[in-house]
Formats: sequence, C-alpha cells, structure tokens
Amino acid sequence: MQTLTVGLGERSYPIHIGSGLLGQAELLRAHLPRKRAAIITNTTVAPLYLAQLQATLQALGVSSVPVILPDGESFKNADTLNHIYDALLENRCERTTPLIALGGGVIGDMTGFAAATYLRGVPFIQIPTTLLAQVDSSVGGKTGINHPLGKNMIGAFYQPRLVLADTDTLHTLPDNELAAGMAEVIKYGLIRDLPFLGWLEQNVEKLMARDTAALQYAIARSCQNKAEVVAADERESGERALLNLGHTFGHAIESGMGYGKWLHGEGVAAGTLMAADLSQRLGWIAGDDVARVRRLLQHAQLPVVAPDLGVEKYLDLMGLDKKVEGGKIRFVLLKQLGQAVVEGNIPQALLQQTLEACVHG
Ligand code: NAD
Ligand code: GLY
Repeated sequence: MQTLTVGLGERSYPIHIGSGLLGQAELLRAHLPRKRAAIITNTTVAPLYLAQLQATLQALGVSSVPVILPDGESFKNADTLNHIYDALLENRCERTTPLIALGGGVIGDMTGFAAATYLRGVPFIQIPTTLLAQVDSSVGGKTGINHPLGKNMIGAFYQPRLVLADTDTLHTLPDNELAAGMAEVIKYGLIRDLPFLGWLEQNVEKLMARDTAALQYAIARSCQNKAEVVAADERESGERALLNLGHTFGHAIESGMGYGKWLHGEGVAAGTLMAADLSQRLGWIAGDDVARVRRLLQHAQLPVVAPDLGVEKYLDLMGLDKKVEGGKIRFVLLKQLGQAVVEGNIPQALLQQTLEACVHG
C-alpha cells in the first residue's frame, strides 16, 4: 500500500492506494467513532462490493445504512440527491454519521455534495472504484450535481476525511470505463508532468491490460500531481483550473449529446485533442506534438474525433463553462507538452477552425 497526503492544514487527509484495502478495517477505524455510517452506492457497485465493505465495518462494530442509487451520469441530479437526503433522514443519520461514497465519480460527487449539505455538513469518506475516480474525482473535494443547462453546475468544495483506493476493484471495471479513466491520467502528463507522459507512452499497453504494478504506479503518480495542485489552490483561483484540460470541450460534448451517451473521460479525451489542436493553431505546440497526443489517446482506446454538434451549439454550451469570466470562454491549452496555461483571448476564427476540424477523423 502507498499513502499520499493532501496537505490542507487541519483538513489534510490521506489517500491510501493498494490491493485488498476494502478489507482493511484498521484504515477506517479512526473515522468511525460513533459505530454508524451511511454507504452511498449504486445498483452496479452494490452487488460487487457493498457486502465486503459492510463486513469490514461490522468487524469494527460499525453498523451501516446502505443507500443504493440508480446508476449513471443521467442520475447525477437534484432528484437523486433528494433521494439521498430522504434515506439519511428516514434512518435518523446524525451530524456525526459519516457518508461513505462507494463507487465511481458520479457517486463520489453526489455523496460529497450530500455530505456538504446534510445537517450543514457531515464527515465524508471516498472509496473510489473506477480508475477515473481513483486518479481524479475522489481527491480534491469538488462535489456536486449536473443541471439540465450545464454539467456540475451546482456543488460545493468539500474535502473527504480519507480516500481509500482499492486497486482490486478495477478488475470488474468494463474496458471502456478503464479507458475513460486513462483520459484523466494522461491529462496530468500533459499539463505538468512530462516525464510521466513519457512513462505513459511506454506503459499504456500494460495499463490497458490491467497490470497491477503499472496501475498502482499510474494511480499514485496521478494522485501525487492532483494533491500538489489542490494543496496549492484548493478553490481554483489559479493553478487548479489547469486540471480542466479538455474539459471545456468535453463538458460541451457530454451535455450536448445528452448525459450518459459519452462517458466523461471520452468527452475529455476528444476535448484534449481539440485543446491540442487549438494550441497548435496558436503556434504554441507543433504538429508532431498534436500527433503524439492523438497516438497516446488512441493507444488508450479513447475517442479522438469529436461529435459534430455544430459550431454554434459548441459555442453555446461552452459559454456555460465554470471558467467563463466576463462572458469570455477561457480554455486550458498547451504552451508545450507538460506545460498548460489558461487563455481567454482566443481569436474566434481559430476556435472555429478547431471546432470544424476536430469533428472529422
Ligand atoms: P461513473 O461513476 O458513472 O462510473 C462508471 C461506471 O462504472 C458506472 O456504471 C459505475 O456503476 C460502474 N462502476 C463503478 N465501479 C465499478 C467497478 N469497480 N466495477 C464495475 N463497474 C463499476 O463514472 P466515473 O468515470 O467514475 O466518474 C465520472 C464522473 O466523475 C462525472 O460525473 C464527472 O463529472 C465526475 N468527475 C469529478 C471530478 C471531481 O474532481 N470531483 C473529476 C473528474 C470527474
Ligand atoms: N477535476 C478537476 C479538479 O478537481 O479540479
């Protein structure tokens, strides 16, 4: 097991990464003083891992209230959130009752927002079970739900007390979900860790074959990158925005296609190539660099051609991005591979060229 720390003063917390962690009661003991916890999960993850987690809690004498939600991005909304509140109230969960998120990013984001708001805040534990959640969404305290008009538009910054990433859970993950997680792994290499990008190019096949050592290395290196960024800029007033490489385009793809049609990581992958294309049009990176990004995404079995929503619809949807300032869309782009910046002054003609070019293979 490897343990990293997200350094946020009094609110610092550990990220444990390793095999068999779901069964390690000792990792949870300090966080469950009141012998009761609520486990928020979904209809896919519950049959796989709920009983194991409940047994681990039982070994500590902790009883659990399971809340099993429907599965999917299309359920990451106010109705489902309300269902969590209903269950917590019906079961008389108290201010000291931790909420444990057992699942992917959808469960983690919704559970975190429920924890931030139920009784004005209760303890929150992340047990991420997708690659995407283990390398990104479980770390850093961004929580929330979608709104019909935009992705992740309602939410709060609310840090977990603990992140427990059991890499064994990745064995049951469908191939396309593993690939979706790779989009966020590749992101760290592109925005701030060039040596990691090189490592990924050498090891992408091993990762896709779920080689345990390679996966643990990639998860830990990703979490290390994320932890450093979050510790420096928890509420995204600067550097943290760089973690959104590909996301302005990607969120437009996700909501434009209808939540759940494109996986988050798939939208991020196509969006990352759009960001690389735009960076090249600005004269920042070379055609060879764009080709290198495309190749790595393709080796990770990710889409590199964006859906043709039409330029107007892309512009409309991207106008709702959380990074918009003074009505201007701000993009995370690549000054060079391994170095990202946020840029708001993009010539409209270049943006239009990217939007037109990237929807064709
Ligand atoms: P997800 O939560 O929808 O999980 C993907 C699918 O895998 C689901 O069907 C899920 O039930 C299933 N699943 C989960 N664990 C499994 C396992 N071990 N075995 C088999 N199936 C399993 O999707 P995701 O990719 O984990 O997360 C995407 C969400 O995360 C998006 O809503 C995105 O906005 C959010 N996100 C948040 C942050 C953040 O910082 N908070 C960062 C990145 C993404
Ligand atoms: N996933 C982007 C962030 O956590 O800031």
